[in-house]
Amino acid sequence: MAKVKIQVRDVSKIFGSHPERALKMLTDGVDKTEILEKTGLAVGVVSADFDVYEGEILVIMGLSGSGKSTLIRCLNLLNKPTTGTVTIDGEELTTADHKQLLQIRQHKFGMVFQHFALFPHRKVIENAEYGLEIQEIDPATRKEKALEALQLVGLEGWEDSYPHQLSGGMQQRVGLARALAVDPDILLMDEAFSALDPLIRRDMQHELISLQARVKKTIIFITHDLDEALKIGDRIILMKDGKIVQIGSPEDILENPANRYVEKFVEDVDKAKILTVGSIMSRAKVVAFPADGPRTALHKMQDEGISSIFVVDRDYTFRGQLTADKASEAIKNHQKPIDHFYERSLQTAKVDDPINILFPIMAETTRPVPVVDSENNLLGIVTRVDLLTCLAEGGND
Ligand SMILES: Nc1ncnc2c1ncn2[C@@H]1O[C@H](COP(=O)(O)OP(=O)(O)O)[C@@H](O)[C@H]1O
Ligand SMILES: [Mg+2]
Repeated sequence: MAKVKIQVRDVSKIFGSHPERALKMLTDGVDKTEILEKTGLAVGVVSADFDVYEGEILVIMGLSGSGKSTLIRCLNLLNKPTTGTVTIDGEELTTADHKQLLQIRQHKFGMVFQHFALFPHRKVIENAEYGLEIQEIDPATRKEKALEALQLVGLEGWEDSYPHQLSGGMQQRVGLARALAVDPDILLMDEAFSALDPLIRRDMQHELISLQARVKKTIIFITHDLDEALKIGDRIILMKDGKIVQIGSPEDILENPANRYVEKFVEDVDKAKILTVGSIMSRAKVVAFPADGPRTALHKMQDEGISSIFVVDRDYTFRGQLTADKASEAIKNHQKPIDHFYERSLQTAKVDDPINILFPIMAETTRPVPVVDSENNLLGIVTRVDLLTCLAEGGND
């Protein structure tokens, strides 16, 4: 049996003064909306009771407003629970004094947020050093530890860049490095990947799992996305209206949804999330631009071993496609640029479309299908292999 790292016992959090009024109403079975109407008190979390095991990734999942952030902030007492206790490594946090709390927060916890919260005027390395700076660690050690953390998240060589020079995914790696640099036992990640675009998000999910295999932290990860929860969680806590409605392994949640809410969540996400074009697409390894000559375009294709290439504007607006045959022909005929002859009428799939819209398209062509967003920017491609793999795996990628 794994060791218990965090013990949460009967934790409730009510926002507003005289919270006992809300607690009383909760015992009488009054719901959150009515409590807010009658008392002005916001119910954050109700009677949460669970353990977190050392070394696990525990996912807290639920719709927006269900109390996930409030609950995670109760763990390090950024939210002071209205009732109940939180114990870490046998030490009760809820009775610790201010100084002890600061110590525990700085040394045991690392936090990663949805909006990366980096300092724009600090270099990557200085951002990564931040937690150590607060601990008043000397500059040399600070730098060494921050560099190690940057290395862990694959950002070696970016130390002297500024956040705005990095993509969203890379900025979130800095956020992760900043949390890891203090070498905390526990990582709290609140919707840490929710702001990232789908492909980067999937990369980050995989990387978090592989990182976890190396660093073996205890990770509490919040998401409102079942697909993400199933992928990275050892266990999942499902919340609704401040209450925990189910705790279990991903398999438990899918096989035995505890009630209609969980079932609905699972069903909805099944249809809306797991089986979207976006969830099975892959990256377009290379693209051509309208101003490219046919030789350049052909070279790009040969380099990647592909027989057709998608054409986009510099801002990635999707334009069309060029085949290797067409490019070769144009070279012979001294035609350039490719803007004059690439194929324009091409069916695209939208990133949020369900995957079944791919079947008729793929019946017509063996080439990859371009995937675009609502503004017609090219986000990725779906190949026959992508589609078949997803079907073989029953839709969970
Ligand atoms: N600081 C606060 N003051 C008042 N109400 C709050 C505060 N923080 C959260 N709440 C309320 O608590 C409930 C849960 O919010 P939250 O934990 O942020 O949900 P989630 O993270 O699942 O979206 C919501 O009804 C929200 O309005
Ligand atoms: Mg939240």
